[in-house]
Amino acid sequence: MYDFDKIVERENTSSIKYDMRMQMFGKEDITPLWVADMDFETPDFVREAIVKRAQHPIYGYSLRGETYTNSIIDWVERKHDWKINEDWIVFSPGIVPALNFATLALTKPGDAILVQPPVYFPFFTAATDHDRILTESTLIYKHGGYTIDFDDFAAKAKYAKLFFFSSPHNPTGRVWTREELVQIASICLDNDVIIVSDEIHNDLIFPNKKHIPIATISDEIADITITCIAPSKTFNLAGMATSSLIISNHNLREKMQTIIDSLHISLGNVFGAIASEAAYTHGYDWVIALMEYVSGNLDVLRSTLISTNSRIKLVEPEATYMAWLDFNDTGYDDDKIKNIIINEAKLGLSHGPIFGVGGSGFQRINLASPRTIVSSASDRLCKVFK
Ligand SMILES: Cc1ncc(COP(=O)(O)O)c(C=O)c1O
Repeated sequence: MYDFDKIVERENTSSIKYDMRMQMFGKEDITPLWVADMDFETPDFVREAIVKRAQHPIYGYSLRGETYTNSIIDWVERKHDWKINEDWIVFSPGIVPALNFATLALTKPGDAILVQPPVYFPFFTAATDHDRILTESTLIYKHGGYTIDFDDFAAKAKYAKLFFFSSPHNPTGRVWTREELVQIASICLDNDVIIVSDEIHNDLIFPNKKHIPIATISDEIADITITCIAPSKTFNLAGMATSSLIISNHNLREKMQTIIDSLHISLGNVFGAIASEAAYTHGYDWVIALMEYVSGNLDVLRSTLISTNSRIKLVEPEATYMAWLDFNDTGYDDDKIKNIIINEAKLGLSHGPIFGVGGSGFQRINLASPRTIVSSASDRLCKVFK
């Protein structure tokens, strides 16, 4: 029904992934499988809605109306079994901006913000750019998978004001279990730590796994949580800069809204609202098909690693369209790994060390590309590390 095999030329479309290859990797002739957007077409029902609006010749200041808000409420209930109220939704032009708003709204210079590296690196700067202290509770990597060191997390939470939570977790691909969420939540409650739960990858779950929004664990947890969601990763709309914060606590919501209003950025853009509404209204089946396809790409990568008896190990993702690869058995240092990947495999991946402590020896590969590209990339990767 949907053609994820189609190759779409993205060069010279101002695409960061393609048009910044020279700056990022020092050469153009590489297959870019780094930054987290997809090489699949944004679904036709989204494109049609944008085109329809674009045909009206005026793009003035615009409202996000009731149908926009209802599409978010319906999506969250259908996809995540979470009933949210209209007035809990706060617009944000992005999730990374929202992390920074939370820092500004809820902490002061010198306060500590807790993160779980290896993690999406803008989590670090959302603290350090504002003179807040980063407190890191590194995930445990054992038997090829990641878990939380709860003793360490509890010790660090004592000093933290905020916790930037990646759920599902980028780059490890973990979908946190209810038990893990309950433990995290109870530690945060005990220590008065507010949770900023970045759930941008929440719709991108592999079959047999279920994402649980941490705010649904209990009303008490919801009361200390800001949940960040967006159609951007799910429907390939990152350039639309349109996302939502779900905040049931009135006081927290007011504080966030005050920062956003004081920066005068709550208007958003007319096409972002149109795209978001179309995606959430019509996109349910498309996402199921997308994740089946990505799962097939993951099978290709996994089977290539196995059949070539590769020294590269796959950390099995439970969510997201990225895979976290362990190169430690190659015996090479990070620079050498990167060099081989760029110059011999001719690939552009995300370099593990940028994800902080625990990232050394790893690389992240983006699997949201047509199968032929993922297959060729997998072959090249295994060949050069033979
Ligand atoms: C965990 C996580 N949060 C946030 C973002 C980016 O969010 P935004 O583009 O809305 O700022 C990404 C993009 O890769 C991500 O992986």
